[in-house]
Amino acid sequence: MARLVVSSRPVLGVFPTRESEKMRMMLPSTAKQGRYRLDACIAGGQTYSRVYQGLDTTDGSVVAIKQAKRDALSPRQCRFADRLFQREAAMLAELHHPGLPCLRDVFEEQGVLHLVMEYIEGETLQQRLDRLRRSGKCLSLDESLFIGTQLCSILAYLHGQTPPVIHRDLKPANVILGPGSRIYLIDFSIAWRFTQSAAHLLVTPNLRQARGLDTIYNVGSRGYAPREQYGEAASTSPPADIYGLGALLHYLLSGVDPATRPIARLFVFAPLRLSHLPEGFSLATLIARMTESEPARRPTMSDVRETLEACSNRKTGWNEEIPTSQTTSISVEAW
Ligand SMILES: Nc1ncnc2c1ncn2[C@@H]1O[C@H](COP(=O)(O)OP(=O)(O)OP(=O)(O)O)[C@@H](O)[C@H]1O
Ligand SMILES: [Mg+2]
Repeated sequence: MARLVVSSRPVLGVFPTRESEKMRMMLPSTAKQGRYRLDACIAGGQTYSRVYQGLDTTDGSVVAIKQAKRDALSPRQCRFADRLFQREAAMLAELHHPGLPCLRDVFEEQGVLHLVMEYIEGETLQQRLDRLRRSGKCLSLDESLFIGTQLCSILAYLHGQTPPVIHRDLKPANVILGPGSRIYLIDFSIAWRFTQSAAHLLVTPNLRQARGLDTIYNVGSRGYAPREQYGEAASTSPPADIYGLGALLHYLLSGVDPATRPIARLFVFAPLRLSHLPEGFSLATLIARMTESEPARRPTMSDVRETLEACSNRKTGWNEEIPTSQTTSISVEAW
C-alpha cells in the first residue's frame, strides 16, 4: 500500500490585520482594463490562489475575484495552478444551483488567470466555528442539521450531473453561510467528473511533481478526504463526498476538527454519543456509516438527507448559538 503522507492545505480565512494591510498595499487596483476594481484580499495563504472582494464597474455589483498565484511558485507549479483554474472555471460554468457561486467572467491579464464570481456575503463555516469557539459557544444541533441538509441538496445536484461531479473538498472553509439562511459550497478547484474509466487515475506522478511537494499523495484536505483519495491508485466516486460531509457533520456535533487528528487516526471517527436526543441513535449511526472506510458501505445521499430531516425538529437560521457548556452531552466517547 502507498505510504500515507498527508498534505496540509491551509485553512484560509480573513488575514490578520498586518497581513491584510500589506496585501492591500500590494493590490493592483483594477483588472481587465479597469472593468474590475480589486478592493480587499479575502484569502490567499499558501495555496495556489488569492481571492479578492471587488467591484464590477460595468454594473456596480460586488464580485469575488479568484486569481492564480504567481509569487513563490516554480514555473511548473504555475502551470499546475493554471490547470486548477481552468478546471474550476469549466466546472463552474456548467453548474447552476442557488447554493453554488455563479461564474461571471474568466480572463487572463499579464499571464495571470482570473475567475470572477458572484460575491457571497457572509462568513465561511470555518470562520463561524472559530468565532464561536473564541466566545465559548458552538453551533446548535438545529443549525448543524440545517447546514447538513442544505449541503445534501447541493451535493445531490452535483452527483446528479452527467457524469456526476464530485466536489472532493468538503470542509468548513469551503462552505459559506450566506444571507437569508442560504448555504453555499465553494472551491471547485479539485472537483472531478466521475466516469468509471477515470475512477482509478487521479493522482498522477506528474501532478504530484507539479505541486512541487513530493510528499503529497492525496487529493483533498486532511481529515475530510476519505482513504480512497490517497495513494497511487486514488479513486473518487460520489461516496467520497458522503465521507467528507460525514466528517464535517462529525466536527459540528463533536467539536473535534478531523483535520487536527494524528495521522495514525486519520480515518477513525470516534462514535458520537447522542443518546439524550430522540433521534440521537440514528444520527450517530448515520455519521458512523458516512465515514466508513469502504465506499460501498456508506449510505446514499438520499438516505443521508432523509435521516437528517427526520432528526431536525425545526429548521432555523444560524442565530441560535449555544454556550459550549450546554452541549457537553453531545460528546464523543473516550477512545
Ligand atoms: N464567491 C465568493 N464569495 C465570497 N467569498 C469567497 C468566494 N469564493 C471564495 N471566497 C473566499 O475566499 C476563500 C478562498 O476561496 P477558495 O476556497 O475558492 O480558494 P482556495 O481554498 O485558496 O482554493 P484553492 O484550493 O483553489 O487554492 C474562501 O474560504 C472564502 O472566504
Ligand atoms: Mg478553499
